[in-house]
Amino acid sequence: MTIHKLMVKDIRNLEALTIEPSPFINILYGLNGSGKTSVLEAIHLLGLARSFRSNRVKPVIRKDQQKCTVFGQVRHSGSAVLNVGVSRALQDENFQIRVSGENLRSTSALAQHLPLQLINPDTFRLLEGSPKDRRQFLDWGVFHVKQRDFIPLWKRLQKALKQRNSLLRHGRMSSSINRSTIAQISSELQVWNSELVKASEAVHQLRDEYFEQLKPVFHEVLSQLTELSGISLKYYRGWDKERSFSEVLAESLEKDIQSGYSQSGPQRADIRVRIDGTNAIDTLSRGQLKLVVCALKLAQGMLFYRKTGKQCVFLVDDLPSELDAPHRKALCAILQNMKTQVFITCVEQSALADCWLPEVYVKVFHVKQGRLEANEQIYPGREIRQAESLEIEHE
Ligand SMILES: Nc1ncnc2c1ncn2[C@@H]1O[C@H](COP(=O)(O)OP(=O)(O)OP(=O)(O)O)[C@@H](O)[C@H]1O
Ligand SMILES: [Mg+2]
Repeated sequence: MTIHKLMVKDIRNLEALTIEPSPFINILYGLNGSGKTSVLEAIHLLGLARSFRSNRVKPVIRKDQQKCTVFGQVRHSGSAVLNVGVSRALQDENFQIRVSGENLRSTSALAQHLPLQLINPDTFRLLEGSPKDRRQFLDWGVFHVKQRDFIPLWKRLQKALKQRNSLLRHGRMSSSINRSTIAQISSELQVWNSELVKASEAVHQLRDEYFEQLKPVFHEVLSQLTELSGISLKYYRGWDKERSFSEVLAESLEKDIQSGYSQSGPQRADIRVRIDGTNAIDTLSRGQLKLVVCALKLAQGMLFYRKTGKQCVFLVDDLPSELDAPHRKALCAILQNMKTQVFITCVEQSALADCWLPEVYVKVFHVKQGRLEANEQIYPGREIRQAESLEIEHE
């Protein structure tokens, strides 16, 4: 998928702009505070109806405005262009999504039209942060590659888990947790346990299959990015691998009642990244951590393409930060070879000047106080290309 045309209205400091990006590499450069990340945020909003910088809608909407809108013409390979529009308003935490003239109610339906991968300075959180971030990363792949199977299973899992937790909390409120309380809750839980076990095992199986496919692609990308060796990836399913999930649920019942929630299951799954047997985050430098995370995200994009024939759009915020010139070049080379659409931000345009192959269509935008100017850039060996139409609209 590629964004053929992007229109942004009232997102952060972007008042109104229209751009026609390159289907391959787009560079947005400009001073601090000029609006580079805001453009990426607008694209994120178009793909997921939410920002990657804030859970709240207020900070995303331009000061003193009531709503923000982003509109994109999204081209799917070999098919027509889809018109996608997303608006968010101050008074309403909900979103309005329109795809080809129809209102959509779910963000998962939207996400199918514009799969995105984000690499930004917070990307380290994938390794340093909570398992939730890593589960979300894994589920991005399972969702996009095995959509039809995954969504209904995911809903079943959430429902069974919610019901089980609600019964557990009910049990916790009993005056004393003794054998008879446990026996009573255990019998009430039976129906939900059985549903939970089925959905959990099915979700685990999809994740496991996807993860096994991702691992070799990750190692392939990592070796193109860095000399770093000894990195291993492991998937933890959320319960003891030696025992069945029903056994684990039965054994942990008393603890689950005491805490009021299910302590094991796919909601506790994780990916563990290790280097020579130690935790990667305790050993690797910041730059190395960033390379590992980049390799994970690039591998996901590659696997998505290999499995579905579709490309995702990469948003790379502040690419040069913490990467030296050889690693920057290696990362740019992979992005170019993927022939996917990429939006990259940087402060100094020169930081990425020698990273592009002559045949790659690189479009450069100079971001100045919330406005974008197309800036013709000649890279070594590349023909001078006229900037495609770029209009800047002002209210
Ligand atoms: N809701 C808002 N309304 C108006 N302006 C805003 C709003 N939120 C943030 N800004 C301003 O928008 C500007 C652009 O921010 P943005 O993060 O996009 O800059 P940037 O070009 O990525 O900068 P940097 O190089 O520092 O990362 C900043 O000056 C910021 O203060
Ligand atoms: Mg920024």
